[in-house]
Amino acid sequence: MSPMKPLVIVTPFHESQIQAAIYCSKRSGIQIRVRSGGHDYEGLSYVSEVPFAIVDMRNLRSISIDTKDKTAWVETGATLGQLYYTIASKSKTLAFTAGVCPTVGVGGHMSGGGYGMLSRRHGIAADHIIDAKVIDVNGRILDRKSMGEDLFWAIRGGGGTSFGIVFAFKIELIVIPQTVTVFNVTRTLEQNATQIVHRWQYVADKIDENLLLRLFLRSFTSSRNGKRTIGAFFTSLYLGRVDDLLPIMQEKFPELGLVKEDCTEIPWIESVLFFAGFPRNTSLDVLTSRVPLVRPYFKGKSDYAMEPIPEHGLKGIWKFLDVENENRAELQFSPYGGRLNDYSEFEIPFPHRAGNIFMIHYLVSWDKPGKKESQRHVDWIRKLYSYMAPYVSKSPRTAYFNYRDLDIGMNNERNTSFKQASVWGFKYFKNNFRRLVRVKTEVDPYNFFRNEQSIPPLS
Ligand code: FDA
Repeated sequence: MSPMKPLVIVTPFHESQIQAAIYCSKRSGIQIRVRSGGHDYEGLSYVSEVPFAIVDMRNLRSISIDTKDKTAWVETGATLGQLYYTIASKSKTLAFTAGVCPTVGVGGHMSGGGYGMLSRRHGIAADHIIDAKVIDVNGRILDRKSMGEDLFWAIRGGGGTSFGIVFAFKIELIVIPQTVTVFNVTRTLEQNATQIVHRWQYVADKIDENLLLRLFLRSFTSSRNGKRTIGAFFTSLYLGRVDDLLPIMQEKFPELGLVKEDCTEIPWIESVLFFAGFPRNTSLDVLTSRVPLVRPYFKGKSDYAMEPIPEHGLKGIWKFLDVENENRAELQFSPYGGRLNDYSEFEIPFPHRAGNIFMIHYLVSWDKPGKKESQRHVDWIRKLYSYMAPYVSKSPRTAYFNYRDLDIGMNNERNTSFKQASVWGFKYFKNNFRRLVRVKTEVDPYNFFRNEQSIPPLS
C-alpha cells in the first residue's frame, strides 16, 4: 500500500551496469532495492518508505544447462518457469527442486530457500546451489572461491539482498523418472475431512520420500448439493508409476481412499503445469510468461507444526475459514520429512529440518485496493495466526523467510540493533541468525544493502 514509487528503475543487461548502479546509489544516497521476479510477500523489492531505485534483473535471465555434468548456470532474473522449461527442453530425466509458481524469480526464491513438490525427495533449491556470482558493496564480482565459504553459506537461504546483488547461481540438477504420477483429490466435511486431515498429519512426513502429499484447506460451495463446506484438497506428486503408488497409499493412508482413476501419469515438466493449475494439454510455453498468476492483493504468514493438531484444533480452523469469503483464504499444509531431514539445521541458513512435520502457509487475497478492504483481510489472518499459537513451534515460533511477514518484526530505517532484529531473525533462521549477522558485519559493515528485514551488521 506504500505510496512511494522508485525514483528510477535500472534494468541491466550486463554486470557492469549493476556495478554502476551501486556506485551511483552510494554517491547519491538513494537506497537500492533488487528485484528478480517481484514476488516478495511484502513488496520489499519494489516499494520503500525512503527514496530508492530498483535494480530489476529481468534482462539477466540466461540459463545454460550442462546435461553431462547435470549442472546449470542460471541468471537471477530468470523465473522458475523459464528454468523448468529450459531443463525439460534438454532432458527428459533432469529436473530441479524449487517452488510451484512458475512466475517466481530465481534471485529471491533460491537465496531465501525454495520449497516445492520435489522437496521431500530432494530438499530445497538452496540445498543444490554449488556456486554463485555476487556483486558486493564495493562493486566486486565474486564467485564461490573469491567470496569465501561464509558469504557463500549466507546467500543460500539467508536472502541475497542483505549481502549484495546475486547475479547468477550454479545449481546441481536432479535425476527424476521419465514418468511421474499426480493427483488432486478433495474431501469435504461431509466426507470426513476433519478425521482425514487429522490422520494426514501422522503420515505426511513419514511416508515414502518419493511421495509429497500436499494439502490445501478452503471453504467452498459444493457443486453436489450447493452447500457451503470446508474442502481438504490433496494435491500430490509421486516420483514413480501409479501401480507403485497405490499399494503405498493403501498401506499408509487408506483413509484418503485414493483409486487409480484419481491419478494421472505424466512427464515431470507436465506436472509443473498441473501444480500451477493449468488445464491439461496447455502448451509448455506458458512457463516462460512473467505475468503473475495470483490476485493483486494478498497477505501471507507461515508457521511450522511439530506436533499433530488435534481434531478440536482443526475444527477451530474451519470456523475461521467459514467466516472468510469463499475461495479467498486458504491454509496450505506442506509436508516435510524425507531428505529435508538429511541436512543439519546449520548446513545453510534455512533451519527447518528434522522435527518439523509440516509448514503451514496462511493466505488471504482480494481484488480491490482500499484501506478498509485490506484491513479487513489482514485483521482476519492475524486473528487466525493468534489462534494457531498453541499448535505450532514455540521459542521461537518459526517462520519461512520466503513467506516474508513484517508482522513478526522489522528493522529501523537506518541502524538496527542485534537485539531488535533478533525478534524476527531467530524466527526465520533460528541460531543461524548469529552467523548471518557475523557475515553481514564482515561484507557490508555500513549496511548499504538494507531493507525492513535485512540482516543488520554489528555496530
Ligand atoms: P523479488 O524480486 O520480490 O525478491 C524477493 C527478495 O529477494 C527481495 O528482498 C529482493 O530484494 C531479494 N532479491 C531478489 N533478487 C535478488 C538478487 N538477484 N540478489 C539479491 N537479492 C535479491 N516459495 C516457495 O518456497 N515455494 C513456492 O512454491 C512458492 N510459491 C509462491 C507463489 C507466489 C504466487 C508467490 C507470490 C510467492 C511464492 N513463493 C514460494 C515465495 C517466493 O519464494 C518468495 O516470495 C521469493 O522471495 C520470490 O522471489 P522473487 O525473485 O520473485 O521476488
